[in-house]
Amino acid sequence: MRSASVRHSRARHPDQAAIETPAYVYDEAMIREQLQSARRALGPSGGRILLAMKAFSFVPGLRSAVPWLDGLHASSAFEARLARRVFPAGIVHTTSPGMRPVDVPEVANYSDRLSFNSLTQWERFRNDVTGRTSPGIRVNPGLSFVEDERYDPSSRHSKLGVPIDDLSAMLTRSPGALQGIEGLLVHNNCESTDFRQLLRVVELLVDRLGPWLGTLKWVNLGGGYLFSEAMDVAPLRAAVDLLTGRYDLEVLFEPGTAIVYRAGSIISTVVDLFESGGEQVAVLDTSVAHAPEVLEFQFVPDVDGGGPGCHPYILAGASCLASDTFGRHCLAEQLEVGSRVTITEVGAYSLVKASWFNGIALPTVYSRAPDGTLTRHKRFTFEDFLDFSGGSDEDSRN
Ligand SMILES: Cc1ncc(COP(=O)(O)O)c(C=O)c1O
Repeated sequence: MRSASVRHSRARHPDQAAIETPAYVYDEAMIREQLQSARRALGPSGGRILLAMKAFSFVPGLRSAVPWLDGLHASSAFEARLARRVFPAGIVHTTSPGMRPVDVPEVANYSDRLSFNSLTQWERFRNDVTGRTSPGIRVNPGLSFVEDERYDPSSRHSKLGVPIDDLSAMLTRSPGALQGIEGLLVHNNCESTDFRQLLRVVELLVDRLGPWLGTLKWVNLGGGYLFSEAMDVAPLRAAVDLLTGRYDLEVLFEPGTAIVYRAGSIISTVVDLFESGGEQVAVLDTSVAHAPEVLEFQFVPDVDGGGPGCHPYILAGASCLASDTFGRHCLAEQLEVGSRVTITEVGAYSLVKASWFNGIALPTVYSRAPDGTLTRHKRFTFEDFLDFSGGSDEDSRN
């Protein structure tokens, strides 16, 4: 999830000439740097870090991050299965509001922790959780930090987690109903740099659920915080210390955006240039279908190539959708057909949400290793499109 703010990147420039466009390039060193930064922020208080695959699940990228992770966070049976395959020894934590009976045994098979989203899910599936899976429950603390309520996990009619008042009432009324729950998941923020909000959440958990916390094994504090951009890490450490010190709980985090957003760029080529309504439009060979949150959250992504002087362009996407644009940008150099344009800081929620809209091939995926080596991992072909579109081998001969 992205806010509408424009961020200024510390741009890393891959060797653009060698890259087929459109391309996603993710920077392994940046992923590592962000994970190390999260660990530094946590400091001696500890806290385990799982990467939220919902933000980034490209397998070679996950594999390169695994040495710096404690595990992976999954949101479905497929993600849980992929997580176990990519990181056999890691912690796999799964939660989903849309768990179906058929998913539960599979999720349990691949997950060490499974947080149920509601009390009804818990009641229905509690006996299906077997083996190594530690069951937990997602709690909605009812504290809203995200202004736009469409993206606020704690909004009034939220579907995400058990309202804390309901959980607290249940503990008083029929604590036996929660017997067997070993952990708690709370995730109710988005791109926050203010760990005082996290501390407020943890203090609320302590206040409302107090002694019960002492019967649990773990608390997962979710994602939603940008560790390396945080104003002050003291409240983060205080939050973790409160849970570990008072209740001896294992504390986990499952950031997505914080770890990968800076690591990903889209490299594109200008395919057309013309004037429209008094503005220069540069049509790129990529589309907002390759970075859907640009449209979803109406933000203008950063683009490399700003600087002194200004050649203004509307950078437009290649699809027929009128709103397929990356916004107005001032570039230091004039564009020509064939020029490269790099959209930066789109590493989170891009490839995982990308679509085949208009049949435009998904960007070729490259990684950039810490020594600068570029590796091409996946080029999407007509056969991939055919397969996605339900076509057969027979169709591919035409
Ligand atoms: C349960 C849960 N954990 C972790 C995350 C990752 O959040 P972010 O990418 O904001 O760090 C999300 C995002 O929606 C989530 O719902």
